[in-house]
Amino acid sequence: MSGRSIRHLYVHLPFCASRCGYCDFVTVVGRQGQHGAYVDALLAELRLEGGVLAPRLESVFLGGGTPTLTEPRELERLLRSLPPADEVTVEANPETVTPALALLLRECGVTRVSLGAQSFQPRLLSVLDRHAGAAEVRRAVYTLRDASFDNISFDLIYGIPAQSAADLDADLSEALALEPEHLSCYELEAKPGTRFTHAHGAELARQAETMESYFERIVARLTEAGYRWYETANFCRPPSAAEGRDLRSRHNLAYWRGRDYLGLGIGAVSTIDGRRWRTTPRLGRYLASLRVGERPERELETLPERVRRSERVLLGLRLDEPLSLDDLAEAVDPAALERLERLGLVRRAAAGDELALTERGRFLGGGVTAELLA
Ligand SMILES: C[S@@+](CC[C@H](N)C(=O)[O-])C[C@H]1O[C@@H](n2cnc3c(N)ncnc32)[C@H](O)[C@@H]1O
Ligand code: SF4
Repeated sequence: MSGRSIRHLYVHLPFCASRCGYCDFVTVVGRQGQHGAYVDALLAELRLEGGVLAPRLESVFLGGGTPTLTEPRELERLLRSLPPADEVTVEANPETVTPALALLLRECGVTRVSLGAQSFQPRLLSVLDRHAGAAEVRRAVYTLRDASFDNISFDLIYGIPAQSAADLDADLSEALALEPEHLSCYELEAKPGTRFTHAHGAELARQAETMESYFERIVARLTEAGYRWYETANFCRPPSAAEGRDLRSRHNLAYWRGRDYLGLGIGAVSTIDGRRWRTTPRLGRYLASLRVGERPERELETLPERVRRSERVLLGLRLDEPLSLDDLAEAVDPAALERLERLGLVRRAAAGDELALTERGRFLGGGVTAELLA
């Protein structure tokens, strides 16, 4: 095992006020009475597993669920117990952002807040079962700015049934008007078994082709507004001359670059030294194991070298920076590479030692990368 070398930590906080129909993340509705026990369990898990963590981390990411719904005292206790990190992100639902919460996050060393805006159109938000509207998103941004947050990201979803191109443009305009440092734009996915897929799955399948033009529209609009399209679904403001800050998500960059990370909490995934495990998604079992100081159940998978290399190509080519082929050459099919290069979908750099997708290749995305793999 890696002795004190892991520099990225994910912590899962599963509590939500209600369940949005499209979401299949590991979430728990209600159970306010268990927030304290859950944080106790997270800290017990940190004691068991934390030996692999570097004394100072590059990134901590508190994801959910709705981390900001966690009882404030418990959220504070958790944040104050985590190792220090250069970037500490917390996911927040807009309606949970109050001045007191913003201050708490600030005082506990949070550097970045990722707001789940999803859309600004009341009609589309109601299709998604979302409670917060445009006014709450705006209020959340002002509240966070008042508490001196200078790194705010929005999650937006496109491809919502009945969303017109004009609706999409309106969402992008509203988002841009709030000047976030970072934007993630996800195509709505029909997750198997969700209420939403039951009701709208067929409609999503029918509109799949239209979504390519929506994606192109998003990239065009955000890059015209000066954002860097640094990963398939992610955009950030470029460094200003005055500050020179790199506003890409350091935590997600670590995933895309194939770095190891530790995950704590129910359903959390860890990848360390070629082993990947997912902790049980069952809250009761998780709490019971850690209450007696035992490791919770987990599904463990060993990743063969070949799989690790292919993953690094698949993820690395999502970025706008060239991927070094140093130890990855075996993962790429030379004939496919030549073909895709001729088609103008892939380009080689640094005398063939580095690889990147061209803009056209990036629009086609995963399909091109899959063809490249040996
Ligand atoms: C862990 S989730 C939830 C964060 C937060 N609780 C919220 O709802 O705003 C992180 C992001 O994943 C995206 N997401 C969740 N389910 C999705 C789906 N079925 N298709 C596309 N994006 C999804 C949403 O944009 C969401 O903000
Ligand atoms: S989308 Fe967010 S708020 Fe809705 S159920 Fe999923 S994690 Fe909870």
